Amino acid sequence: MNQPSNQPPLANPLREGIATRSVPEACTIIIFGATGDLTHRKLIPALYNIAADGELPPELAVVGFARRPKTDEEFRAELEEAARKHSRQGVRDELWQNFARSVFYHQSEFADAEGYKRLADRLKQLDEERGTGGNRLFYLAVAPDQFDVILQHLKAAGLNKGNDGGWARVIVEKPFGTDLPSARELNRIVENAFAERDTYRIDHFLGKETAQNILVLRFANAIFEPLWNARYIDHVQITAAETLGVEGRAGYYEGAGALRDMVQNHLLQLLCLVGMEPPTDLGADSVRDEKVKVVRSLYRFSDEEVAVNVIRGQYAEGAISGKTVPAYRAEEKVDRNSKTETYVALRLAVENWRWAGVPIYMRVGKRLPKSGTEISVHFKHAPGVLFNKEERPRDDNVLVIRIQPDEGISLRMDAKVPGTSFRIEPVKMDFHYGTSFGKASPEAYERLLLDSMSGDATLFARRDEVEQAWEFIDRIQHAWHECDAPELFEYAAGSWGPEAADDLLARDGRAWRRL
Ligand code: BG6
Repeated sequence: MNQPSNQPPLANPLREGIATRSVPEACTIIIFGATGDLTHRKLIPALYNIAADGELPPELAVVGFARRPKTDEEFRAELEEAARKHSRQGVRDELWQNFARSVFYHQSEFADAEGYKRLADRLKQLDEERGTGGNRLFYLAVAPDQFDVILQHLKAAGLNKGNDGGWARVIVEKPFGTDLPSARELNRIVENAFAERDTYRIDHFLGKETAQNILVLRFANAIFEPLWNARYIDHVQITAAETLGVEGRAGYYEGAGALRDMVQNHLLQLLCLVGMEPPTDLGADSVRDEKVKVVRSLYRFSDEEVAVNVIRGQYAEGAISGKTVPAYRAEEKVDRNSKTETYVALRLAVENWRWAGVPIYMRVGKRLPKSGTEISVHFKHAPGVLFNKEERPRDDNVLVIRIQPDEGISLRMDAKVPGTSFRIEPVKMDFHYGTSFGKASPEAYERLLLDSMSGDATLFARRDEVEQAWEFIDRIQHAWHECDAPELFEYAAGSWGPEAADDLLARDGRAWRRL
């Protein structure tokens, strides 16, 4: 296990209820990109919420590092406004005041060596004043082209090491590269300053409550694992649907598209959790060793196979909840002839003993009629000896893992309709987080920030996972660019994507599950 001696024993959210989780350690969190959207919408609300839930160590400091001149007070006021707007629980005045006292602003250009020297002095001072123990957690909430300069300066200022026996870690936001060579280059840049064990690559889907629950469902219960294989499972579907469009992010999205934005990271991570073998223990590397094997076992498409197994689409004008919305190409800052895909559907194969012959269908899209992320495991049909003689839809037994919204799990099965005749109808056993546990799930960023403060990297992507995922995705990108096949289909905003995506399943005698 890659734990340096000054780190706490491995703690893991997946162990909750099995063993206690170690407490996040006192530290200073230094956010690069402190005035940006991510800080406002996700990071500060997440930190406030964990503080409000009493889970933040009292000896904590947050330092915002950004270019614009600003006082601590101005920075705090700006963050308060953001927290009030985006926090999942209402912001209470006295709790905010208390939290805000631990927040500071540090003005510097990212390329100014002096700024990092001043930062080092300030962090030492905070260690003394606030008891942050010399521990530093750097959060790179900036565009990837800034990573190099920031990391080089952190290293030059000695900030890639903790102070006085403390630790130093770095959290890296996506996009982690745009293809395999750029991901490798980024990994090299990060590795130059921080060891892999101190590098936390965020994939916020892994912090979602139900995503974490997949392993508990599979390995804490005895009833699913014996059925979790090609003998009993017909196929698996993974859907991530959003009603939102590109939302002013064209600058990034135009160069990314749905495949790189969602499939390379979030959807493949979900697939890993569903498809992996049981790890030997819950240590970060044991879990990630098993996850990476799933990506490595993904069948690699030739250009011709991409044309048959991957469908891409782009939304045209349409209506969402009765409101007309523009086509992708008419969105702000989008090229009028853009070929960027806003929808992808794929038919994948995991080539190992457990999954051979079980198709995995994935789809992800913007401007679909409903927002929802779910995984559905479709079991094979019971033999038609007694009850299932007549032609009926094939999906008798489906286990649905709802990642969001309304997190939970449901199992569909056949039951006899009450009465004298022998009519059979599907029914559902349903578990909802909200009602079973009576409290809202924390936001993904809350869990992930706490884990990085505790030194637990289980829910973060490891270097080889990221690189393997790019290796798989690059083949699809290659086919798209080289052969321009399949074509980019249009779909009306508010529809479930191009018809070709329905055909992808129809030709196997299957259909997408209705969300
Ligand atoms: C982000 C993507 O990683 O995930 C966005 O860049 C997408 O395009 C978002 O909208 C979806 O995340 P969530 O948590 O809102 O489902």
